[in-house]
Amino acid sequence: MSLFKKYKEVIIYKTKEEIELMRHSNLLVGQTIAHLASLLKPGITTLQLDVVAGQLIRDNGGVPSFLNYHGYPYNTCISVNDAVVHGFPGNLELKEGDVVSIDCGVFKNGFHGDSAYTFAIGDPGADVMQLLRVTKESLYKGIEKAVANNRIGDIAFAIQDHTERKYGYGVVRELVGHGIGRSLHEDPQVPNFGKRGNGAKLMPGMTLAIEPMVNMGKKDVFYDEDGWTVRTKDGKPSAHFEHSICVQKDKADILSSFEAIEAAEKANSHLTPVG
Ligand code: MF3
Ligand code: CO
Repeated sequence: MSLFKKYKEVIIYKTKEEIELMRHSNLLVGQTIAHLASLLKPGITTLQLDVVAGQLIRDNGGVPSFLNYHGYPYNTCISVNDAVVHGFPGNLELKEGDVVSIDCGVFKNGFHGDSAYTFAIGDPGADVMQLLRVTKESLYKGIEKAVANNRIGDIAFAIQDHTERKYGYGVVRELVGHGIGRSLHEDPQVPNFGKRGNGAKLMPGMTLAIEPMVNMGKKDVFYDEDGWTVRTKDGKPSAHFEHSICVQKDKADILSSFEAIEAAEKANSHLTPVG
């Protein structure tokens, strides 16, 4: 979601039952991304993938969360190469060496699930594979900090530290993770950059979408003429991984899952697994 300043945060805590409903929505998100992963190959268009996603979500009793969200016109966001996030599915055919971020949201039983994964078609080269791996690692480093009595800034710092300080990548500033629940975007905002000990205190029952967006080159981005697609200014590739999680006392509960996605990624000979 886009970064914005507001007066007061309203954080909605979820009950055990609500958390299970969110896990269920996220299960369908994971199955959908996994199915798209099995279809990825040179020559397929991102619009073909989007149509399949919409069908699969509805066949399983869900509604695509992104469709019509502030006028967003597709079921999924599919962002290729220099597209960071919010890429419009379209008639461009994927090709060898592309990096493809698939971001999917599902609304079911009153709750949203939201997750994203970046795939490598064929071999985009060792430097790009490192970007994908490090961005994925940073997601888990952020999640490690999503425990009670830490703060949002602890998550933010862990992600920025691993990607920017350690590897020299550019963390996007204009877009952030978010609370999630009955609405796709709830408070608090979850930036991928910041200071330890800053921001809202984390408490059990807080549900967050943590989503590092990391550029291989500089952090600067711009909006494409379609008004949605965010692209890197320097034209270098970008990676995006996202999990929906619930803050708990000692260890965050990861509500979305990459298990089916990683199995599909491994089984598809057109893809190089991120690892
Ligand atoms: N994961 C993205 C986000 O939470 C997807 C939103 S796409 C939109 O910001 F179309 F719904 F905006
Ligand atoms: Co999100």
